[in-house]
Formats: sequence, C-alpha cells, structure tokens
Amino acid sequence: MVQRKLLWAGLVAVASLFISSQLFAQADVNEKRQKLMKGQSAAAKAIKGAAEAKDYATIETKAKDLMGSSEKIGDLFPKGSTAGKTKAKADIWDKWDDFGKGASKLGKAAGELAKAAGEKDDAKVQAGVKAVSGACGGCHKAFRAEKYSE
Ligand code: HEC
Repeated sequence: MVQRKLLWAGLVAVASLFISSQLFAQADVNEKRQKLMKGQSAAAKAIKGAAEAKDYATIETKAKDLMGSSEKIGDLFPKGSTAGKTKAKADIWDKWDDFGKGASKLGKAAGELAKAAGEKDDAKVQAGVKAVSGACGGCHKAFRAEKYSE
C-alpha cells in the first residue's frame, strides 16, 4: 500500500514536471518567433526610411536580413503551438502550405528588393518596398489574430 502511494506521488511529480516544461517550451517558442517578427519590423522600418533617403546600401543590407529571417519562419511555428501569449491562428497548421508560401513570398520580395537596391534602380526599389510590406500584411491578414490569446 505504502509502495503504491509512493508510486503515485512519483508519477504525479513526473507528470507535473512534464506539464510545466511543456508550458515553458511553449513560452519559449512564442518569444522566439515574436522576437524574429519584431526584428523584421525593425528591418522594414529601416527600409522605408532608407527608401525615402535613397540610401540603397542600407536597403540592400536590411532586405538581405529579411531574406534570411523569412527562411526561419517555418521552424518557429511547430505544429499546434497556440498555447500561451500568442497571436498565431490555428489556421497556420490547417493551411500549412499557404503559410509556407506566405514566408516564401516575403523571401522572394526581399530578394528582388535587395537586387533593385544593388542596381540603385529607384522605381524598382519603391515597388520592392511595397511588395515586401504587402508580403508581411498578406500573411498577417490570414494567419495573425488581432489580439493575444491571453
Ligand atoms: C508567413 C507569415 C508571416 C510573414 C510573412 C510575416 N509575419 Fe509577422 N507574424 C506572423 C504571425 C503568425 C505572427 C503572430 C506570432 C505570435 O504571436 O506568436 C506575427 C507577428 C508579428 C509581429 C508582432 C510580434 C509580437 O511581439 O507579438 C510583428 C511586429 C510582425 N509580425 C512583423 C512582421 C513584418 C514587418 C513582416 C514582414 C517583413 C512580417 N511580420 C512577416 C506571420 C507572418
């Protein structure tokens, strides 16, 4: 009897450790992807300012940063990670291909922008800036909720 009780206590302790580690893992996941998104936001803002100032070198660097970060998006949304403080919609995993396409669209737009900036082609740069912010907005419209889940 005593042994059984001990066994139960042990199981409960292990289970609660497991649950809390899952919660920590989720908080970590949310933080990582929100941090990446905030970095993207800073890059997009720098690009807009640089486009006005016709500072093509900055545009090229920041657009390349966005190419790199767009490739990381997929890995930062492990299946079903909707717990904790997040704006991620469950549709992300129901329409995973579309979500992936949204990330590639950003990568492609950022690549074209970097190229246009390298060529100092102002018309293409202006169009590229729009395409990049369109790629951000398009994905948010489909997959980001207005408010945090908690
Ligand atoms: C493939 C889809 C996708 C693309 C492309 C994308 N985002 Fe996001 N973004 C999301 C999702 C989903 C969230 C919600 C993440 C969460 O709360 O866990 C988000 C959240 C954010 C946030 C809020 C972060 C926070 O702290 O809550 C900012 C800012 C942001 N994105 C900026 C951008 C910018 C700028 C771009 C383009 C350069 C961009 N995003 C491109 C899907 C995308």
